[in-house]
Amino acid sequence: MPDIFDVMARRRSVRRYSSEEVSEEDLNLILEAACSAPSAGNLQAYEIVVIRDRERRVGLAKASLNQMFMAQAPVHLVFLAYPERSAAIYGRRGARLYSLQDATIAATFAMLAAHALGYGTCWVGAFRDQDVLRIVEAPRNRIPVAIITVGKPEGLEHTTPRLKMGSFVFEEIHGRPFNHITVMRKLIRPGC
Ligand SMILES: Cc1cc2nc3c(=O)[nH]c(=O)nc-3n(C[C@H](O)[C@H](O)[C@H](O)COP(=O)(O)O)c2cc1C
Repeated sequence: MPDIFDVMARRRSVRRYSSEEVSEEDLNLILEAACSAPSAGNLQAYEIVVIRDRERRVGLAKASLNQMFMAQAPVHLVFLAYPERSAAIYGRRGARLYSLQDATIAATFAMLAAHALGYGTCWVGAFRDQDVLRIVEAPRNRIPVAIITVGKPEGLEHTTPRLKMGSFVFEEIHGRPFNHITVMRKLIRPGC
């Protein structure tokens, strides 16, 4: 199993998938990774809908502004924020911020776990919320936060660049560039 730095360095958004399935064991491991993510007050104010049905995957691809590559991926993980669950303890901040953060970090954990297991993923955020809720038959008070496509990659993905570290990481005060020394040499990203 690769270490976490390897996983982060090698992860790319994958938009081409082979027909190979995601094994039951791997899917469960990915979901356990999501479940292990931190959440505000440990409330886990999110839900995950596992989509394997082809018709639903096509529906989600269409709901995602016709990003039809999504349908190729054998599994979609739909992450829904559950604002009321967080609001019960944290009020408006829970509803508006924490539930979205809970869902986001769970999706991130799932994404990294999938890559560690040799799958490719793409974080999809461009979709029509109401269509997604309808397709997965979720109550209207949930907020779809991300659809993570999961499948075996077909071919190599290109490497995207990053902003220069000094342009967004600051030392002590906002605007004073942090003096970054590259340590994670495996992270070959123009910019970092
Ligand atoms: C919030 C968010 C929304 C995104 N939405 C989409 C999307 O709708 N479709 C897509 O193909 N990629 C989407 N992406 C993936 C980004 O395009 C991708 O992460 C970025 O270009 C950097 O490339 P990399 O993931 O290969 O490092 C999204 C990523 C994030 C974090």
